Amino acid sequence: MSAFVFWKGEDLILNKYFICNNIKIPFIGYGTWQLPEGCEAINCIKNAISVGYKHIDTASYYGTEESIGIAIEEMNIKRDEIFITSKVWNDDRGYDKTIKSFEKSIKKLKLNYIDLYLIHWPADINKYPDWEDINKSTWRALVDLYKSKKIKLIGVSNFKIKHLRTLIDQEIVPMVNQIEYHPGFIQSDVVDFCKENNILVEAWSPFAFGKVFKNDVLINLSKKYNRPISQICIKWCLDNNIIPLPKANSIEKMRENLDIDNFMLESDDILKINKITDKMFSGWDPSTIDF
Ligand SMILES: NC(=O)c1ccc[n+]([C@@H]2O[C@H](COP(=O)([O-])OP(=O)(O)OC[C@H]3O[C@@H](n4cnc5c(N)ncnc54)[C@H](OP(=O)(O)O)[C@@H]3O)[C@@H](O)[C@H]2O)c1
Repeated sequence: MSAFVFWKGEDLILNKYFICNNIKIPFIGYGTWQLPEGCEAINCIKNAISVGYKHIDTASYYGTEESIGIAIEEMNIKRDEIFITSKVWNDDRGYDKTIKSFEKSIKKLKLNYIDLYLIHWPADINKYPDWEDINKSTWRALVDLYKSKKIKLIGVSNFKIKHLRTLIDQEIVPMVNQIEYHPGFIQSDVVDFCKENNILVEAWSPFAFGKVFKNDVLINLSKKYNRPISQICIKWCLDNNIIPLPKANSIEKMRENLDIDNFMLESDDILKINKITDKMFSGWDPSTIDF
C-alpha cells in the first residue's frame, strides 16, 4: 500500500517533506535534464546541493547520473541526506533489460540504493500490441529490485489512467507518477486517479520549459505578490500537493526556486492558476511519442 501524507510542519521549505511509504521525499527536486555536459554539470549539481536542494531528479537518458555520483562523492554528502530519483529508458523495457539498466545507473551514481526508481515512459497500444505485458514485465523488475532493498520507492512516469490501471492490480502498485504538470496543463484526470489510489504526483517541467514566464495571468500574480513567476509556480504546485522538479543552470535561479518561505497564495489565486487556458503543453503524449 502506497499511502502518503503531506507533512504540514511550520518549518522552512528546505525541511519539509512528503511522506510516501514511510520514506521522506524532500519538497522540491532539482531537475537535471539538459544540464550542460561534464564538469559544468558537476558544478551545477554541487551548486544545487550547496544552496539547499536535497532531492535530485535524473534518468539514464539524461546523461547526468555520473556527474551526480561525482558531485555527491566530492561533497561528502551523507547518504541519508540526499534523495535521488532515476528512471529506466524506453529502449530498456522488459524484465532483464530493466535490471541491467538499473545496475548501470546505480553504479554511475556510486550509490548502494536509489531512493526512487521510475519507468520513464509507458509502452503504449499505438506502438506495441503487447503494451500491457511489456509494462508489467518492466514493473516486475522494479518490484524485485524494491524487494531486494536496492530501491526505497518505485513508480512510473508519464503514465495515463489506462497505463496505471494495468498495474493497479499488481502485488505492489506504483507509489509515484511523475508527469508533465504546470499552469495550463494540469492533467486533472490523471492527478485525481493518482490521488484516489495513493500515488504521489511529481511535476516535470513546472515552468513549461520557460513558457510560463510569458503568461499574462502569472505576470499579474507576480506583480500582486511581488514574487517572481518561478516562485508562484513552485508554491502553486506544492499547494496542490504535487512535488515540483525545477531545472536551472545558474545558482541565482536555483536559489530563487527554493525561496518560497514567507508568502502564501490566496485560494482564489490557486484556482485562477488551475484554470489558465494557455496549455503550454510540450506535445509529448505517451500515445503518440516516437521515442
Ligand atoms: N519524466 C519525464 O519524462 C521528464 C520530462 C521532462 C523533464 N523532466 C524532469 O523535470 C525537470 C524540469 O523540467 P525542464 O527542465 O523541462 O523544464 P522547467 O524546469 O520547466 O524549465 C526550465 C527552464 O526554466 C528556466 N528557469 C529555471 N528557473 C528559473 C527562474 N527562477 N527564472 C527564470 N527562468 C528559470 C531554465 O533556465 P536555465 O536552464 O537557463 O537555468 C530553463 O530554461 C527536468 O530537468 C527533469 O529532471 C522529466
